[in-house]
Amino acid sequence: MLSTGNAIIRNKIRQFANLPTLSLVQTKLLQTIGNPKANVEDIAAVIRHDPTLSARIVAVANSPFFGCPGRVESLEKAILMIGFDYVKGIALSICIFSFFPQTKSLRSLWAHAYAVASLAGKLSGRIPDADSSSSFLAGLLHDIGRFVFMKIYADEPQPDRNDEIFELKGRELLQAETETLFCTHADAGRWFLESLSFPEDIIDAVGMHHAQAGKVSANGLVPVVYLADGIMGLGSPDLAGDGEWTDEHEAVLARCGMGEADKERMIAEVKAEESATRSFFNL
Ligand SMILES: [Fe+2]
Ligand SMILES: [Fe+2]
Repeated sequence: MLSTGNAIIRNKIRQFANLPTLSLVQTKLLQTIGNPKANVEDIAAVIRHDPTLSARIVAVANSPFFGCPGRVESLEKAILMIGFDYVKGIALSICIFSFFPQTKSLRSLWAHAYAVASLAGKLSGRIPDADSSSSFLAGLLHDIGRFVFMKIYADEPQPDRNDEIFELKGRELLQAETETLFCTHADAGRWFLESLSFPEDIIDAVGMHHAQAGKVSANGLVPVVYLADGIMGLGSPDLAGDGEWTDEHEAVLARCGMGEADKERMIAEVKAEESATRSFFNL
């Protein structure tokens, strides 16, 4: 039965990738970003074709993580102030998020994703082989599988299942997903990003963000996103999303050479940004 569910979900995900919004991501953005010769002007040219996208990038550049609220008023300035790598990642995420219906529940998932991204960006400095802009992007996309599921549920005759499952966290959430769809949102996120040909390290961080501690490495993006998501359950009830801190997270924290003081510091970082993030996402 497990493989049947997987096959159905994987098939639906493959169909998403052919829809116009996502094929723009695939053909224009990912190709430009994946081309080592592409420069700031090339990527800006792709983004400029879509005024809503440009406006949203400017809005994100003004968000708390980048520390210059209200000072970025154009795409060029956003690229200059927050950096080319961040702008690329944010452009990709915004295109992807805009593919899904913009409901209040999804806005709060976006806010959770942003809070995880922001913490992941900071945490990357304490974990080997994790750069901050990739950590930020992996954090933004870590729960993209939940968006995929919501879109699949919305097309079904029982959309109420959406609301019930939406409230769950951690293990309980994964169990409910496996019972109904025979896979988890981490799996769905992995397949979705694979279908868009994302870089492997981002895909792994998304696919492993609810894995058992024994499978989580001590370097790269995987532990960064894993810990940032778990901390949300401790640091911010409003932005916790599906994040829940468990013994598994304690084990990964220790494997990464961190302890109680680091955990407290992360909680404080989450709390410090909480109200700005809530107002940024209009929650
Ligand atoms: Fe998750
Ligand atoms: Fe999450």
